[in-house]
Amino acid sequence: MIAIGSDHGGFALKAEIKEHLKSRGAEYKDFGTFTDESCDYPVYGNYVGTAVASGECEKGIVICGTGIGISITANKVKGIRAALCGDCFSAEMARRHNDANVLALGARVIGTGLALMIVDIFLNTPFDAGRHEKRIDMIRETENK
Ligand code: RB5
Repeated sequence: MIAIGSDHGGFALKAEIKEHLKSRGAEYKDFGTFTDESCDYPVYGNYVGTAVASGECEKGIVICGTGIGISITANKVKGIRAALCGDCFSAEMARRHNDANVLALGARVIGTGLALMIVDIFLNTPFDAGRHEKRIDMIRETENK
């Protein structure tokens, strides 16, 4: 199950991503926002981060205008490694090297076509583990300080 959430700035792209996930048979849970009225991105970054950190959802996707505010928020939830990606290489490395569990996108920064490619890469790429394991443990240690 994929948790997905956005503010008003990411609302239209969220709808495109949901259609895309549906067409490839991927299950998702939409944590809002549910209209294009102005709202506060921390609410939705927190909902998605909490759903992933608790194990309710396996991965998350968060979207705001730049992807910055909502990724900062998601990263404040313990256990979340949110990666703001605007290109395919970063999306692949965020999974392979960083074991990112939340993808953040900036709807006012990238087009829909690129966003959908990034989503596919993020969902299909496994963590490389090996030497990267230790570094993820170090992130956890930092989080626990
Ligand atoms: C909303 O106008 C905008 O600030 C928000 O979507 C996001 O870009 C914040 O980081």
